[in-house]
Amino acid sequence: MTQSLSKLVGEGLAYFNVINGKRIVAVEKEVIEVVCPSDGKVFCTIPRSRQEDVNRAVDAARLAFNSGPWAELTAVERGRILHKWSQLILENLDELAALESRDTGKPVRQGIADIRAAARYYEFYAGAVDKIHGDTIPVLAGHTALTLREPHGVVGAIIPWNYPSQIMGRIAGAALAMGNTLVIKPAEDACLSVIRIAELALDAGLPAGVLNVVTGYGEEAGAPLTKNVHIDFLTFTGSPDVGMLIQHAAARNHIGCTLELGGKSPQILFEDADLDAAIPVVVNAIIQNSGQTCSAGSRVLVSRKIVDQVSEELGKRFSSLVAAPHHEDGDLGPVVSTFQRVQIERMVAVAAEHDVPLIAKGTISSSAPKTGYYIAPMLFGPVRTNERIAQEEIFGPVLALIVFDDEEEAINIANGTPFGLVAGVWTRDGSRAMRVARKIRAGQIFINGYGAGGGVELPFGGFKKSGHGREKGFEALYEFSATKTIVINHG
Ligand code: NAI
Ligand code: MG
Repeated sequence: MTQSLSKLVGEGLAYFNVINGKRIVAVEKEVIEVVCPSDGKVFCTIPRSRQEDVNRAVDAARLAFNSGPWAELTAVERGRILHKWSQLILENLDELAALESRDTGKPVRQGIADIRAAARYYEFYAGAVDKIHGDTIPVLAGHTALTLREPHGVVGAIIPWNYPSQIMGRIAGAALAMGNTLVIKPAEDACLSVIRIAELALDAGLPAGVLNVVTGYGEEAGAPLTKNVHIDFLTFTGSPDVGMLIQHAAARNHIGCTLELGGKSPQILFEDADLDAAIPVVVNAIIQNSGQTCSAGSRVLVSRKIVDQVSEELGKRFSSLVAAPHHEDGDLGPVVSTFQRVQIERMVAVAAEHDVPLIAKGTISSSAPKTGYYIAPMLFGPVRTNERIAQEEIFGPVLALIVFDDEEEAINIANGTPFGLVAGVWTRDGSRAMRVARKIRAGQIFINGYGAGGGVELPFGGFKKSGHGREKGFEALYEFSATKTIVINHG
């Protein structure tokens, strides 16, 4: 059902901002045409918001925080609304998954997985919010000291187009659970699920103004949000360059921020790795969402002792991969935009100029419209560690195979990029697995695995240029709140 729905869902519709509980057009009444990456054709519109729209959304969030019913609710009551919201998302799974898929170009099954994961965030935080509490601290005689976790206030969130519903979930689930109010500026390239899920929040009983969504371009709507003096905390997922702007904006208003800026995540295959288990995971970690994943496994580090076998097996799989329109639910879909396709092609051209060997390349389905944004998956190797495709985030289905001779070299190569988001270690030697995991500078390390579904429960975030702050799990509840200490002198 979703497969056929995903071809048509949203057709001809005008989507709206959600501000103060109402669906409204932009003040200037301008729109942005939304294109489906599978055929490059416009199928609906979103508001092209500017500073005035953003200010209205922030004012609504400010009012909802300062004097709305949200602040009066207990943790369990907030949790119940989040739980209801999660159920409504699942009740609308077909529509939301089809929309996510058509908007981003991701295969239908990935759209379904993303919406399920999005619902899971609200479920998780619904259950967590009344189980998070402060401490009592032994201090002076005749005193009792205690801590409370308090919301920051109004949170501004700028999110990307690669996983709109999931990234919204990890932010809105945690930020709202802690009692903040929120303004989200989703990405202009894909944001329909964010709008629809925000509408469902109203049906779930979220009071007006607690969650606002303002769509538009980064400079026109994103920048005014980051500069608004009524914002108390910022969170951003996207490119390192824009992350720097967000951090500057936060500094000017002396507020905190969390940044998630992508990676160049390695999977290390030692000579004793279970290759039957590892190979499909290595392939999936780079083709999922056409490589447009912050935690994509974009480097595979292979022991020289097994490199011939690994190259051959990975090569066979890459040759058979087919990029196809989202509704055909193939191995992978198109990338999100012409801009992203050109970026990827540029990186591949540099590799070719440097004579980096191409081990294998997949194909583009004959059913894929020429007007879509398709990239055939590519496996390069052996790649020297100083090559751009071994150092920079490509955000496409391009895997760099790098050879190492021993454990120390594997660790050095793994740590040898500016990033540190995720890593995978494949070995049957438990001591080595733990030794290596401890030495890699990354926010998440998987041993004999990679990813783990939505990983809603698992703290996630970067070292180095991958950003700072932690999302998901209980840690996000701490990020979206501040400690207040109360000291009582009772003699
Ligand atoms: P981007 O960082 O420009 O966009 C992310 C979000 O920031 C969007 O909502 C955008 O509208 C907003 N934005 C852009 N400029 C802004 C500004 N001046 N002020 C406030 N908000 C602004 O990323 P883009 O251009 O879509 O992709 C470029 C590269 O960034 C990708 O090729 C990829 O390498 C990386 N990226 C990483 C992501 C991740 O998950 N870590 C997600 C998206 C992109
Ligand atoms: Mg950009």
